[in-house]
Amino acid sequence: LDNGLMRTPPMGWLAWERFRCDIDCENDPKNCISENLFRDMADRLAEDGWRELGYVYINIDDCWASKQRDSQGRLQPDPQRFPGGIAKLARYVHDRGLKLGIYGDLGTFTCMGYPGTTLDRIDTDAQTFAEWGIDMLKLDGCYSNATVQEQGYPLMSKALNATGRPIGYSCSWPAYQGGLPPKVNYTQLGQICNLWRNYGDIQDSWDSVLNIVDWFSTNQDVLQPAAGPGRWNDPDMLIIGDFGLSLDQSRAQMALWAIMAAPLFMSNDLRTLSSEARVILQNKAVISINQDQMGIQGRCLLKEKSGIEVFWRPLSNSASALVFFSRRTDMPYRYTTSLGKLNCTAGTYMVYDVFLEKLLPELNDSKDFTVSINPTGVVMWYLWPLPAPQEVRER
Ligand code: DGJ
Repeated sequence: LDNGLMRTPPMGWLAWERFRCDIDCENDPKNCISENLFRDMADRLAEDGWRELGYVYINIDDCWASKQRDSQGRLQPDPQRFPGGIAKLARYVHDRGLKLGIYGDLGTFTCMGYPGTTLDRIDTDAQTFAEWGIDMLKLDGCYSNATVQEQGYPLMSKALNATGRPIGYSCSWPAYQGGLPPKVNYTQLGQICNLWRNYGDIQDSWDSVLNIVDWFSTNQDVLQPAAGPGRWNDPDMLIIGDFGLSLDQSRAQMALWAIMAAPLFMSNDLRTLSSEARVILQNKAVISINQDQMGIQGRCLLKEKSGIEVFWRPLSNSASALVFFSRRTDMPYRYTTSLGKLNCTAGTYMVYDVFLEKLLPELNDSKDFTVSINPTGVVMWYLWPLPAPQEVRER
């Protein structure tokens, strides 16, 4: 969507995967969906170095609302869990240099049974969000159907625009229509949404990450061209720092999300995050690959019988990113290839190992190299071309 927003994939924090619909503030005050949770996470983003790296969105998901609209038909937050109201929370977030995202559902109810936005309420709800100072809306699609979605998603895009407040727009529409043409029209999505969920929800497991990665690479011919500045495929949240991934698997999720030019919304507990998880999520090289200005989504180049898969993303200034991903479950695998065989780049390159944080010897496209890839892990490289030798430049 050409609203000037999200020219690179949005980054921040989103409540759903880690905190779900925990509304039991009496017995679980630290983890329930409440203004305290979002204030806590905003403090962490602002104070622990996240904001400076680009993680600026604090996003509320389902279960924030009161079960009843107010007397004028407007959505209102649950009064017990958000006693200060959303506008006040938005001010808190803005005061810390961050942005606030909220969640709605185009249908009669949200997935968890809170009030939905039916077609007749679209303008009211867009207006309410803008008045509160909201910066991003994720519009889910439970309790609706293809006809309602076909009308509603474009209408909400117009309604948000009409408020005059810049509001990033995340559409779950394709995920509810199987994610593929002809039911899904990616040209249209790129015109009305800044990002969209294509596929099912991530869960806190390696299986879930693999399942998502496989669906995205199987369908990359359709998905890859749909992405660009202001319009991103969303393979769902980062679960790094939760319970389901090893460190190698965490690096793999980070690397593959960067290759896919995916929005980087962490769903974890920033208050208790391990330093190992933090190092991965705050890795500057992988973030700069994800945030590359050109905004070209990467691709899976090949899947070897050995279980090694190679992903590549072209970056600005003739640089590129390579990921060697191992599906193996035995031991570190020594994979030998060359840039020429991978057929992605030609010339001589400087190579930086993103997770080792180390410069490697320069590499010519005809020269074989070997990488050692841990089981369910990755090796990620950032490559940039050396200026051609003088005699070549003058030719
Ligand atoms: C389905 C979405 O895909 C999830 O990300 C989350 O928003 C839940 N609904 C909330 O009910």
